[in-house]
Amino acid sequence: MKGVRNIYHHSYTFLLVFFVMILFRPAFSLSTLSSTESLTISSNRTLVSPGNIFELGFFRTNSRWYLGMWYKKLSGRTYVWVANRDNPLSNSIGTLKISNMNLVLLDHSNKSVWSTNLTRENVRSPVVAELLANGNFVVRDPSGFLWQSFDYPTDTLLPEMKLGYDLKTGLNRFLVSWRSSDDPSSGDFSYKLDIQRGLPEFYTFKDNTLVHRTGPWNGIRFSGIPEEQQLSYMVYNFTENSEEVAYTFLVTNNSIYSRLTINFSGFFERLTWTPSLVIWNPIWSSPASFQCDPYMICGPGSYCDVNTLPLCNCIQGFKPLNVQEWDMRDRSSGCIRRTRLSCRGDGFTRMKNMKLPETTMATVDRSIGVKECEKKCLSDCNCTAFANADIRDGGTGCVIWTGRLDDMRNYVADHGQDLYVRLAPADLVSSFS
Ligand SMILES: *[C@@H]1O[C@H](CO)[C@@H](O)[C@H](O)[C@H]1NC(C)=O
Ligand SMILES: *[C@@H]1O[C@H](CO)[C@@H](O)[C@H](O)[C@H]1NC(C)=O
Ligand SMILES: *[C@@H]1O[C@H](CO)[C@@H](O)[C@H](O)[C@H]1NC(C)=O
Ligand SMILES: *[C@@H]1O[C@H](CO)[C@@H](O)[C@H](O)[C@H]1NC(C)=O
Ligand SMILES: *[C@@H]1O[C@H](CO)[C@@H](O)[C@H](O)[C@H]1NC(C)=O
Ligand SMILES: *[C@@H]1O[C@H](CO)[C@@H](O)[C@H](O)[C@H]1NC(C)=O
Ligand SMILES: *[C@@H]1O[C@H](CO)[C@@H](O)[C@H](O)[C@H]1NC(C)=O
Repeated sequence: MKGVRNIYHHSYTFLLVFFVMILFRPAFSLSTLSSTESLTISSNRTLVSPGNIFELGFFRTNSRWYLGMWYKKLSGRTYVWVANRDNPLSNSIGTLKISNMNLVLLDHSNKSVWSTNLTRENVRSPVVAELLANGNFVVRDPSGFLWQSFDYPTDTLLPEMKLGYDLKTGLNRFLVSWRSSDDPSSGDFSYKLDIQRGLPEFYTFKDNTLVHRTGPWNGIRFSGIPEEQQLSYMVYNFTENSEEVAYTFLVTNNSIYSRLTINFSGFFERLTWTPSLVIWNPIWSSPASFQCDPYMICGPGSYCDVNTLPLCNCIQGFKPLNVQEWDMRDRSSGCIRRTRLSCRGDGFTRMKNMKLPETTMATVDRSIGVKECEKKCLSDCNCTAFANADIRDGGTGCVIWTGRLDDMRNYVADHGQDLYVRLAPADLVSSFS
């Protein structure tokens, strides 16, 4: 009998311990903040993503405090996200907690310096904040995500994050550089998808001035970033449909860290962590050429070639608009046609390995190929040039330009793509004859 009672006794103890564990489970969870908990600067508590890759908490720089995220295991802090970049805490009193359904960051006087700003109805309890394995910091209720940090990037694109438009909500996710190496506040440079123009393209802005185009997506990469090679550990995806227009990348090996960032000198870089060297290795950066990559370095109707002197060249069949300026090396006025298009008997000159011109005035038809594209261009008297929309499988799709041809450059073989520029019959023959 005694033995039986002992077994019962042990079972009760076991059950009690079990229930206590269940009851206090949230307190032990590393990645979740429940509605009754808070993160404070003084407690030093952080959230750690499952898999131990990312850590979220407070950090200090320049005597200011920020809520941010970094890689847990890497030496030296690399911040991938900052919540209150433009509204820091001025002293070491700060609290992150869930208030109503919102995640709020409170300062020493309990004033909100940052909030997820949700106003949605029908939110169910419990609402929790959770740091996911991929570095997405989410606020969710039992039915799904209410808010996610992936929709509000800082200067960094992590694998699985999307850069560009969610057409259902109208949200455009873009990157803004830090101001300096120790100041996360919004800097001068932004890297942004533009879909208001003909073809989706990413642009780098300094303040609000366009300083660089990546060129449109050509099925493999952005035509203006030829350095983006297929890497063995990476998959790229540019999606364009009725729901979204966005770029994303995935790393196929979990032990490799790679990110894209717009740095405060205005470069868009891919960096991959190289454990043997203990550094973030720059895989490529854009702009790559200070000579030929700045926006409109050569005027309309001309293109930049790093291997010629001067760098700017008129398209075949074009001549400088202002010869004197051109010869004084002021290339901004660009080149014009020797012979105006009359829309009869026109043909094309093929320019190889080109960064495609500014797509403001371009339209795309993905259903036809290069031969039909040529016909379509000839049948539209306003068409000035055409190219394939996608260079895979020998080239598919059709982009048609009307009006000026701006911001072009060429590359060495295997980079860029063919551009066909429309010329009047008189200019189709060599200008030397
Ligand atoms: C938090 O960290 C600071 C600096 O490392 C230390 O001085 C302080 O005692 C820590 N606080 C707690 C509650 O652990
Ligand atoms: C801030 O709020 C907390 C919790 O509600 C409270 O304990 C604290 O006294 C408040 N601090 C100030 C300065 O109002
Ligand atoms: C919340 O709204 C404030 C005021 O409109 C804004 O400054 C802040 O950036 C918003 N926060 C987020 C996370 O969007
Ligand atoms: C890219 O992502 C979209 C949306 O997630 C998916 O439907 C499509 O199959 C992906 N394309 C490639 C080439 O992976
Ligand atoms: C993933 O990367 C690690 C570290 O570079 C390497 O040791 C491992 O073999 C890779 N795994 C696969 C499946 O490629
Ligand atoms: C920005 O990126 C460029 C190109 O990779 C690099 O040369 C430069 O040092 C970077 N600047 C900073 C501040 O990291
Ligand atoms: C060509 O351009 C002119 C002037 O911009 C415009 O009025 C006309 O509709 C265009 N034609 C076609 C076929 O797009």
